[in-house]
Amino acid sequence: MTQHTEHTTKHEHHAREKWGTKLGLILAMAGNAIGLGNFLRFPVQCANNGGGAFMIPYFIALFLLGIPLMWVEWGIGRFGGKYGHGTTPGMFHYLWKNPVSKYLGAVGIMIPFCLVIYYTYIESWTLAYSAFSFTGKYFGITTHQGMIDFLGAYQGKVVNQHFNGIGTAYLFFLITLLANIWILWHGTKGIEWLGKWAIPTIFIFGIILLVRVFTLGTPNPALPEQNVWNGLGFIWNPDFRQLGNAKVWLAATGQIFFTLSVGFGAIQTYASYLTPKDDVVASGLATVSANEAAEVILGGSIAIPVTVAFFGIAATQQIAAGGSFDLGFFALPLIFQKLPFGQFFGTIWFFLLFLAGITSSVAMAQPIMAFLQEEFKVTRKNAALMIGGALFFLMHPVIFFLKHGFLDEMDFWIGTFGIVFLALLEIIIFIWLFGAKNAWKEIHSGALMKVPRVFLFIMKYITPAYLIILLGFWFYQDGLRVITMAGVPPENYPYIWFARFLMIGTLIVAFVAVYIAWQKKHRIMQRIPSS
Ligand code: ALA
Repeated sequence: MTQHTEHTTKHEHHAREKWGTKLGLILAMAGNAIGLGNFLRFPVQCANNGGGAFMIPYFIALFLLGIPLMWVEWGIGRFGGKYGHGTTPGMFHYLWKNPVSKYLGAVGIMIPFCLVIYYTYIESWTLAYSAFSFTGKYFGITTHQGMIDFLGAYQGKVVNQHFNGIGTAYLFFLITLLANIWILWHGTKGIEWLGKWAIPTIFIFGIILLVRVFTLGTPNPALPEQNVWNGLGFIWNPDFRQLGNAKVWLAATGQIFFTLSVGFGAIQTYASYLTPKDDVVASGLATVSANEAAEVILGGSIAIPVTVAFFGIAATQQIAAGGSFDLGFFALPLIFQKLPFGQFFGTIWFFLLFLAGITSSVAMAQPIMAFLQEEFKVTRKNAALMIGGALFFLMHPVIFFLKHGFLDEMDFWIGTFGIVFLALLEIIIFIWLFGAKNAWKEIHSGALMKVPRVFLFIMKYITPAYLIILLGFWFYQDGLRVITMAGVPPENYPYIWFARFLMIGTLIVAFVAVYIAWQKKHRIMQRIPSS
C-alpha cells in the first residue's frame, strides 16, 4: 500500500462507526434479514409452489446460494470497512484494482436505494393496519371483497365509505418515513437499539400468534375438515410433481434472496462496521439461522394454517394464488374478527410485520448513508436528512401511481432481477478477481470455526453458475414479457416508463457520484507530499 492510501485509510478509519456489542450486531443483522418476506411472502410462495416440495429447491438454494453469499457479503463488508468503505464502490475498488470496479459498485448503491423507496411504503401499510386492528376500523367487514375494497380505498384506488382519499395512507407513510429517518439519524447505535427490542418482540408476538393458531382446533364444528392440522398439511405436504416445473425452482431461489437480503448491498454495509478480529463465519451463520427460524417456523405456521382453519383448503388456495397481500391484508383481518380478542391479535400481527419491515428498511437505507458520510464527508445527521428528503420525493410516484403498476415494475427489476445481478457481480469480483484463496483467507480471518472446504468449490463454481442460469431463465421467462409490457393496459405505459426512468436515473446519479467522489480523492492524494 502506498503512503497516500495509508494516510487516507487512517483518516477515513477514524470517522467510521462501530457496533457497540456482539449481541447488538447479531440482532441488527437478524433485523436486516427478517422482514415482510418471512411472514407474508414465504407462506404464499410455499403454498403456491408445491407445499412441502418447495422446501427441496428452497434448501438447495439456501446451501448453494444463500449461505455462501451471506459469507461472501460479510467478508466483502468487513474487508471494505478496513479501508474505510461501507459500500460496494469502495469495496470493489480495493478488491479488484481496475478503474471500472468502483463503477460496478455503483449498482450496490442504486439497488438498496430503490428497494427502500417502495419497501418503506408497504411497511407503512402494516403500521396502519395495526392501528386499524387496534381501533377496530375494519371490524364489521365480513367478505374478502369487502377487505379488497377497504385496502383499495386506503391506497387511493377507489373512494368508498371507509376512506375518501389517500390522506390516511399518506399520514402513515409520513410516520413510517420519519421513524426510519430517526433511526438512521442515530447511526449504528440507533440500529442496534432498534434490533435489541424489535427482534425479541417479533419472536414473542410470533410465538403468541403461533400458540393461538395451534389451539384453534376446528373453529367450525360443522366443517371438521377445516382445522389447523389440515392447514399445516396444506402448506407442508409435498407435491413432488411440482419439482419438474422451473417456476418452482425460480420461486424458491427468489425467496432465498429476498428473505436473507443477499444481493441487497445492505449486509456489506452492516459488516463494514466490524473490526478485523470479528468472526464473520459464525455470525453469518447466526444471521441465516435466526432468519430461517422466523421464516420456516413462525412464517410457515401462522398465516396459511389459520386461513385453512377458517376458510378451508380450496378458498386458501385461491387466496394464496392472489399473492402475499391477499393473505396478509385480506384474509387475516377477516379471521381476527372471528377470534375472541381479535383486535389484540390483529394489532400484534400487523405490528410484528411493521417491526420486521422497519428493521429491514433501515438496513436498505444504510448503504446510501455510509456512501454520503464516507465518500462525501457528510455528517451522519445531515446524511439522514438528505436521504429523508430524497425518499420523501421519490416515494410520491410509488404512492400515487400504485394502481398503474409503478411499484410492481420497480419490484421486478430491483427486488427480483437486480438483487441476483448484484450477487453475481460481487461473487465474481470477490472469488474470481480478488482470488478464491484470498477470499477464503479473508472470510476465515478471526473465525473460530472453519467453513467446510466444499464451500470453496461451491462459491467458486456452483454459486456463479447457478446465478447465471437463473438470470438467463428469468430474462427468458419474465424479463422479455416485462420489457415489452405484455398484458399491461396501454394507459399504464407512461407510468411504467416513469418507473424505468426513475431506476435508470438513480443508477446514473450513483455513477456520477462515484466519479465525483473518486476525483475528489485523487485531488486530495495529489496534495499529500509523498516523501
Ligand atoms: N429480507 C427482507 C425481507 O424478508 C427484505 O423482507
